[in-house]
Amino acid sequence: MAFIELQGIAKSFPTKKGTRHVLENVNLAVEEGEFVSIVGYSGSGKSTLLAIAAGLRKGDSGKVIISTQGRTVYGFPYRASVVFQNYSLLPWFSAIENVRLAVESMFPAWPRKRQEQQSTRYLEMVGLGNALHKRPSQLSGGMRQRVAIARAFAVEPEILFLDEPFGALDALTRSNLQQELARMCSALARPVTAILITNSVQEAILLSDRILPMTRGPRATLGPAVSVPLPRPRSLSLLVHDERAVHIEAKIVEFLTGFALGAGKEPHAQDPAVINGRQTSASWAPINEIPSTEEAQA
Ligand SMILES: Nc1ncnc2c1ncn2[C@@H]1O[C@H](COP(=O)(O)OP(=O)(O)OP(=O)(O)O)[C@@H](O)[C@H]1O
Ligand SMILES: [Mg+2]
Repeated sequence: MAFIELQGIAKSFPTKKGTRHVLENVNLAVEEGEFVSIVGYSGSGKSTLLAIAAGLRKGDSGKVIISTQGRTVYGFPYRASVVFQNYSLLPWFSAIENVRLAVESMFPAWPRKRQEQQSTRYLEMVGLGNALHKRPSQLSGGMRQRVAIARAFAVEPEILFLDEPFGALDALTRSNLQQELARMCSALARPVTAILITNSVQEAILLSDRILPMTRGPRATLGPAVSVPLPRPRSLSLLVHDERAVHIEAKIVEFLTGFALGAGKEPHAQDPAVINGRQTSASWAPINEIPSTEEAQA
């Protein structure tokens, strides 16, 4: 029995134009200590799925089952953290207060001093030791997301739900934070179980044990999982120079685009494309720029 199991999840939303069938028959099993990424197109239903997995939203059908040592547990007894794309910090509180409030809600019995020490420690780990008392409006986007990551880790989570945590950042900051996240995960006493939503196949390869592509939707579901048996820590250059990494990327992109590399389908010569910031030989577009079928129909 896996630690987190999603069985037959479906979710629709009523809209003025009728029902929007976002997810259908989504199945996922995540083992304890496993880092799993879900990669997919914008609008396909990734955030909806993560919110259901994290217990923030209910599916229309299907089950989310959490088990430990072969026994199903009910409710959500685990320490879980969610990191969203848009930082979601409280604007009128300083960095340290934003983190401390989360620590307080998880460890209400701790004296305030200890909560502050814990918050400071995690803010220092993300390089914000000098910005403890700054408010979100005084911080850059990358710094705000660092606060959000410090907050997520400061509660010593057993499960991390990450919804495109670096989506709003520039490429350089993004790659720095990817490395920091990897470092923080490996520094934990025991491996954290994580589900990361991303639109970057490379980010998924850098961080995950396993990657699942999500189909474009409507009625989006997960495609076949691809394992990432690469040693850690993983660097950006690994993505380019390691044959296994290149193969994994190709496999995921092939699934997402329905375009088999080397399958004899030559891309249009005047239609070069960039995926994850790299020029490719195929006529791919960045995942975010391909409209979902639904958007295209709208
Ligand atoms: N509360 C809602 N009411 C109606 N439609 C919704 C609601 N929430 C999400 N949707 C629709 O469900 C679909 C999936 O949304 P979701 O936010 O899960 O996509 P996503 O894959 O996370 O996209 P992105 O990568 O842009 O964040 C979209 O078409 C969206 O418009
Ligand atoms: Mg989303």
